[in-house]
Amino acid sequence: MKKQYKKIWQLALPHIKAGREKDLTHVKGVVKAMEMIIKSGIGEEDLLVPAAILHDTGWSRVPKKLQTANDKKGRIKALKLHIKYSAEIASEVLSRIGYEIKRINKIIEIIRAHKFHNPRNINKRIMIDADALSDSFKEQFECDLNYYKSDRLSMCNFRKKNNKFYTKVAKSIFNKEIEKRLK
Ligand SMILES: [Fe+2]
Ligand SMILES: [Fe+2]
Repeated sequence: MKKQYKKIWQLALPHIKAGREKDLTHVKGVVKAMEMIIKSGIGEEDLLVPAAILHDTGWSRVPKKLQTANDKKGRIKALKLHIKYSAEIASEVLSRIGYEIKRINKIIEIIRAHKFHNPRNINKRIMIDADALSDSFKEQFECDLNYYKSDRLSMCNFRKKNNKFYTKVAKSIFNKEIEKRLK
């Protein structure tokens, strides 16, 4: 991670750690996925790396019981809340660092669109792709097996069916990684 983003990481870390059990591993994977996608030459790095770091910080303010809700209604409520709170925390963190309001708002818009949206904007699309691509990496995949009490084959099939991508680069890395997880 570039030096300029380390400060954001430091301020986000307590929130990430206070979220779901898998969140620290997950967010590290999303940042890594984001860097890989940006390296291919698309997206605005100065908005997307902060968005990746902060996108799930809101889980820390979702009540524990709701975090692990099994019913559909509970799950949707939890997802909506984590978006709302992640936007709030992102605003707090980025203001503290002294980001200009215009840039903060752009980052927040990207965070807000990472669930329940089908955006046209390329940065918003890349955020969704990085979030989904992270699931295919070794460390994140192993962590999810444990978190969801699942097995390798079922998890691969679930991911292949449900993780959808906008960009070719993310889809192609995902396919290669999932093949490796099956071995
Ligand atoms: Fe999220
Ligand atoms: Fe996420």
